[in-house]
Amino acid sequence: TGRVTYDPGFANTASTSSAVTYIDGDEGILRHRGYSIEDLAENSTFVEVAYLLIYGELPTQEQLDSFDARLRRHTIVHEDLRRFFQAFPYDAHPMPMVSASIMAMSTFYQDNLSVFDDEQIDLSTIRLLAKMPTIAALAHRKVAGLPVVHPDNSLNIVENFLRVNFGFPSEPYEVDPLMAKAMDQLFILHADHEQNCSTSTVRMVGSSQANLFQSISAGVNALAGPLHGGANSAVLEMLEEISESHDGPQKFMERVKNKEQGVRLMGFGHRVYKNYDPRAAIIKKTAHEIIDQMSGADEMLDLAMSLEEIALADDYFVERSLYPNVDFYTGLIYKAMGFPTNMFTVLFAVGRLPGWIAQWREMIKDPETKIGRPRQIYTGEPERKYVPIAER
Ligand code: CMC
Repeated sequence: TGRVTYDPGFANTASTSSAVTYIDGDEGILRHRGYSIEDLAENSTFVEVAYLLIYGELPTQEQLDSFDARLRRHTIVHEDLRRFFQAFPYDAHPMPMVSASIMAMSTFYQDNLSVFDDEQIDLSTIRLLAKMPTIAALAHRKVAGLPVVHPDNSLNIVENFLRVNFGFPSEPYEVDPLMAKAMDQLFILHADHEQNCSTSTVRMVGSSQANLFQSISAGVNALAGPLHGGANSAVLEMLEEISESHDGPQKFMERVKNKEQGVRLMGFGHRVYKNYDPRAAIIKKTAHEIIDQMSGADEMLDLAMSLEEIALADDYFVERSLYPNVDFYTGLIYKAMGFPTNMFTVLFAVGRLPGWIAQWREMIKDPETKIGRPRQIYTGEPERKYVPIAER
């Protein structure tokens, strides 16, 4: 019909109004609830940013303490849910393990599935936030073949996350403050990014009034692809490939510019930012600090920096306004911390969770929400008559 607009990838279509996150892609500005990402990354914590995104305001000390206490109380997953991880193949990718586990939360926690009851929405919010790090670590321990470490609720969410990933069962875990600070900051930098592919997926699934767990597990699946969250592990694979081939960065860049099939400069480019991604600028600084102190991965950091330098001076990238995005330097930090490459996108998901939840809650409360149902331009056959099989 005349009323249908064709907009592949919804590049020019606002699917919702939202008060959560503001991006100015030309200026490289990102703000949550009005606070700049630089200010939050420097001064806030992941738990506080989660509160800010979900409830709309920075918490008072009392509100923060009560939120934090609730999160600590809900970190453990049901034993039967934990047993899923015994059944997954040892060499499976952790992302589907995580999305399947979140999906399964709809079966284990049935007392909080209503999308109309505020208390139930809040309980499912807390359960998800608290259990997601535990679930992520279960996936990590599975792929690493290591025994499960249970959460220690004297630790905060980020310290606990490091413990369940890198600690030993029944032993106290000594938190490395530098690593905890870096992890906390990385989670803040991933916490929300308005209507990206995974967030739009969460909203789309939720618009049918599917419950929070169902909607978020769909978001995890959308995040998994290499053009979205999967880019962070793809960057490291790209750096390793360049390094092993001994061809050097220039030769690889020629392949990118020749648009060889499947060859892109991963970690570069963004639908909205036509300027330096403000998150990438902060992460680049952290990458130097962490890698200097924690490992000898400097060679890879040097390679990444020379790719960036070549790109920023090259007409191909300049004409298309392609700059490093959030995923360009994160993998190097995760590697230095000791995470296997296939866990990187799971780390993105742990960080993005508060944003997905905030956006889902905004969607479910918005009187203007309608079921997500895009239109199409039909390009198939006109009407034709059925042909019996013997005559085809
Ligand atoms: N390397 C080489 N060329 C690129 C790249 C890249 N990374 N990104 C875009 N281009 C080119 C693209 O080929 C096209 O060229 P032309 O105009 O000649 O056809 C032009 O730039 C515009 O690209 P597009 O694909 O139309 O842009 P988009 O807005 O649809 O896609 C993107 C955005 C992020 C999917 C894309 O830039 C990309 O594939 N980047 C690499 C993957 C990546 O790093 N993803 C992470 C995104 S940020 C965080 C997140 O969401 O996880």
